[in-house]
Amino acid sequence: MTELRVGLLGLGTIGTGVARILIEQKELISRRLGKQVRLVAAADKFLDRDRGIDFTGVRLCSDATEILAADDIDLVVELIGGYEPARTFVQTALENGKHVVTANKALIAKHGDELFPLAAANGLQIGFEAAVGGGIPCMKALREGLAANAIESVYGILNGTCNFILTKMEHEGLDYSEALSQAQALGYAEANPTFDVEGIDTAHKLSILAAMAFGSKIKFDEVYTEGISKITAADISATHEMGYRIKLLGIAKPHFDDKNEQVEMRVHPTLVPLTSQIAQVSDSYNAVQISGDFVEHTMYFGRGAGERPTASAVVADIMDITSGFPDGIAHLAPPMGFVESSRREIPTMPMADVVCEYYLRLMVKDQPGVIAAVTSILADHRISLEALVQKERHASNNVPIVMLTHETNEGNMQAAISRITGLAAVEDDVLILRKESAVA
Ligand code: HSE
Repeated sequence: MTELRVGLLGLGTIGTGVARILIEQKELISRRLGKQVRLVAAADKFLDRDRGIDFTGVRLCSDATEILAADDIDLVVELIGGYEPARTFVQTALENGKHVVTANKALIAKHGDELFPLAAANGLQIGFEAAVGGGIPCMKALREGLAANAIESVYGILNGTCNFILTKMEHEGLDYSEALSQAQALGYAEANPTFDVEGIDTAHKLSILAAMAFGSKIKFDEVYTEGISKITAADISATHEMGYRIKLLGIAKPHFDDKNEQVEMRVHPTLVPLTSQIAQVSDSYNAVQISGDFVEHTMYFGRGAGERPTASAVVADIMDITSGFPDGIAHLAPPMGFVESSRREIPTMPMADVVCEYYLRLMVKDQPGVIAAVTSILADHRISLEALVQKERHASNNVPIVMLTHETNEGNMQAAISRITGLAAVEDDVLILRKESAVA
């Protein structure tokens, strides 16, 4: 039986899961493929740790370069994470004629557009399904199942850690740091949790999805990114009372007409209607909602992080490559869903031009005329209010006010906010969150 030989870089959470599947599901995999996948070697700096796996017959090494140079390896799985040395290792693997599978969203977001042509030039494949949405085959759906559609929007809950934190804050009244510690203990969080809570991980993933949806180059550096660290329990309950739930969303939309092409890409805490599908996605679950011009709304839901779900996606990529091995890869769609020669440099829409609805939270002195002053600034900027609620007075004699607005562009809203912040009666900074009523 034809055999594809795998070398694994990194035996951390995901690497351990991949080794476990390749060993425990060996028979299922070969029955599905009519070919075999064999774990030949694995490299990690910490080989002494007990991973609860029988590695008999697997060469364990502490130096990744042994795997990159080995003659008996057809496919390298990169599960080290981060930009370097992952980029160098993947590049070397491709130069040495080995297919690559990775779960590394940072690597693909930053260097994917250098690596795809290198793989194609060498007749090799790069699989990265696990990089976005963990175990959810959302990129396979976008690239293959929705290939007949012009994509109209992508909304994603793409970070399990943030979704877990927001859910715990809402359901159990945990404070932010307590919920983050729990997420870390469960193995969801990045090595540096700032990447999770400040939205960077979501931006990595969104930039990949947007490029795949719209046939553009990957522009991670141009994604407008805000995290969840300024959200308080009071914001969660105030928005709930108004019929919304706060989710950290990645949002991408095309703005294509005869004269202009731009892609809108943003990551920020977002108010979504309590009745929407995406509002029901709780705990560490992820969901990606993709709308196409023929298919209309679709949604993909599942575990976005953790050993077993993420390893499931990694091994599915290995199996895809195995099914075309060793003769060819013609049955696979191009990695980014468009042939490389047709992928374009499409400019990112400046955030100032993006049109949103808003939630504003401000702390003001409890005295006559304050609300009139605030709303008159909004009126000057032609920003129309949907709702305004004054909450209970604090001991300091200040009162929180929360407002929902109708649509305006970000530049206009920021100009209004800087005038509101300058009012003598307004204490502290104004918190601005954005609202998406259109999400399904
Ligand atoms: N830190 C990521 C998350 C892991 O919390 O979703 C999966 O990319």
